Amino acid sequence: MRLEDKVAIVTGGSQGIGQAICHAYGREGAKVAVVNARKPELGAAVAEKIRAGGGTARAYQCDVSRRDQVRKLVEDVTGAWGTVDILVSNAGIMINKPVEDYTEDDWDRTVDTNLKGAFLLVQAVLPVMKAKRSGKIVLMASIAATHAFPNAVPYCASKAGVWIMAKALCAEVAKFGINVNSISPGNTATPLNEHLQRDPEFVKLMQSYTPTGRAYLSTDEVAGAAVFLASEEARAIHGADVIVDDGWCAM
Ligand SMILES: NC(=O)c1ccc[n+]([C@@H]2O[C@H](COP(=O)([O-])OP(=O)(O)OC[C@H]3O[C@@H](n4cnc5c(N)ncnc54)[C@H](OP(=O)(O)O)[C@@H]3O)[C@@H](O)[C@H]2O)c1
Repeated sequence: MRLEDKVAIVTGGSQGIGQAICHAYGREGAKVAVVNARKPELGAAVAEKIRAGGGTARAYQCDVSRRDQVRKLVEDVTGAWGTVDILVSNAGIMINKPVEDYTEDDWDRTVDTNLKGAFLLVQAVLPVMKAKRSGKIVLMASIAATHAFPNAVPYCASKAGVWIMAKALCAEVAKFGINVNSISPGNTATPLNEHLQRDPEFVKLMQSYTPTGRAYLSTDEVAGAAVFLASEEARAIHGADVIVDDGWCAM
């Protein structure tokens, strides 16, 4: 097992990509803190399923955009398991509208969840990781960090922020034995983009630009990269963005 006894915090673990990462980490022997905010029953179900499969997991309710809640999350996890070895900042939201239609609240919620949330989580875990001079931090970016999509201005901007934040953090904390990297998934079938999965034009567009011909990745395919980046095998990888997109960006 590649993550045996490692303590991992995975935000957005209740569904979609985060859920797949929680299960993959559980299978690799990690103690998994499954974190989400709005539907705690879903996070609890993921943790229960990991335990039922012989793994170790607990569910935590935390809004990543709230500094007090993020601090408490890290305190609770270290209180339960003694440390934090791995942080996967994956919680995210996407609101699709023409640019003029966004409210200030749409912008704030998107940037606060996707970008500020990642920042607050990193700030909270760094003292623990620095003290033991080791840690793995994986930030969930997106192909939308570096490639433009219409009707997604706050989302693209927030993900570009996450993408460069991973590199800026690497410049600062690699010397403490902490690996910070990001993952940029391509189009992955999850509740986040259910509305786009029903849009034949969007599906056709994605298929036509993907060399494999697929419109959607599976969440397990993204989780594989998250296992790798959290493992010892990735010890020399700092400040990288791992693109998991079926070749979409290459086109
Ligand atoms: N799906 C894709 O095609 C795709 C592509 C590239 C990048 N990504 C990125 O991958 C990550 C996961 O996306 P997904 O598609 O799996 O999304 P998803 O299915 O909608 O899941 C999002 C997760 O984030 C949690 N969450 C949302 N706001 C939160 C908050 N304020 N505090 C804590 N948890 C919060 C949700 O739980 P609650 O709602 O219950 O809080 C849920 O667990 C996101 O960062 C997304 O931007 C996705």
